[in-house]
Amino acid sequence: MTDFHDTLRSLRVWDTGLPAFDPDSAPGEPLPLFQEWFVAAARAGQVEPHTMSLATVDADGRPDVRTLMLHGADERGWHFASHATSTKGRQLAAAPHAALGFYWPAQGRQVRVRGQVVTGTPEEAYADLHARSTGALAAALVGRQSEPLTSVGELERASAAAWERAGAEPDADVETWTLYVLEPYEVEFFQGDARRRHLRLRYRRASDGTWTRDLLWP
Ligand SMILES: Cc1cc2nc3c(=O)[nH]c(=O)nc-3n(C[C@H](O)[C@H](O)[C@H](O)COP(=O)(O)O)c2cc1C
Repeated sequence: MTDFHDTLRSLRVWDTGLPAFDPDSAPGEPLPLFQEWFVAAARAGQVEPHTMSLATVDADGRPDVRTLMLHGADERGWHFASHATSTKGRQLAAAPHAALGFYWPAQGRQVRVRGQVVTGTPEEAYADLHARSTGALAAALVGRQSEPLTSVGELERASAAAWERAGAEPDADVETWTLYVLEPYEVEFFQGDARRRHLRLRYRRASDGTWTRDLLWP
C-alpha cells in the first residue's frame, strides 16, 4: 500500500518539453489535425499511438470502456474492428453512439472523438481481417469474445487450433468480424502545457456538415 501511494505521489505529467500548438492556425476540419498529431506522436517515439479507448453505453445507459486498435481515419470517420457478438458489439447495435479517447504522453496531447457508429460491409470486414497479421486472424478465429471462459486450458486449445487454421487457410473468414466507422460530430484536441495553460480546441459538426471551432477553458 505504501509503495502504491509513494509511487503514485512521485509521478508527474507534462514534465517534459512539449510541442507548441497554435489553435489559430489549425485547419477548418478535425481530420487533418488528427492525422498530423498522430504522425507527430509516432515520430516523437510515442509507444502504440494507434491504441485508443472506446466508450459505449449498455442497455441501462451505463458507460463501458476498453482499449482498441485504430484501423484508419478518413473522410468517413474513425475505423475500428471487433466481433459484432462481443459486449461492445451488442452495445453498439442497441446504442450506436460512442466516444474514442487517445492520449499521447510523449507530447502531452489528448484527442477525444464523439460520434455515431455505423458498420461497414461484410467485404470491408473481410478486407480488414486480411490486411493484418496471421496472429490477428488467429485471434479473430478464436471467436466467442466476451463470453465466459471455463479454463485457461480451453483457451489454449482453441487458440492453437485457430493458429493452425490461420496458417493453413489464410483466406478464412470470420462471420462476426465487423468493421465499425465512428462518424464524428465532435472532436477535441488538448495540448498539455507545463505551466498548466493547456489549450483545448473543440470542433463541432453542424447539420450541413460544416465544422465550427471553439476554444475551451482547461
Ligand atoms: C492494446 C490493445 C488493443 C486491442 N485491440 C482490440 C481490437 O482492435 N479489437 C478488439 O475487438 N479488441 C481489442 N482489444 C481487446 C479489448 O480491449 C477488449 O478486451 C475486447 O474487445 C472485449 O471487449 P468487450 O467485452 O467490451 O466487447 C485490445 C486490447 C488491448 C489492450
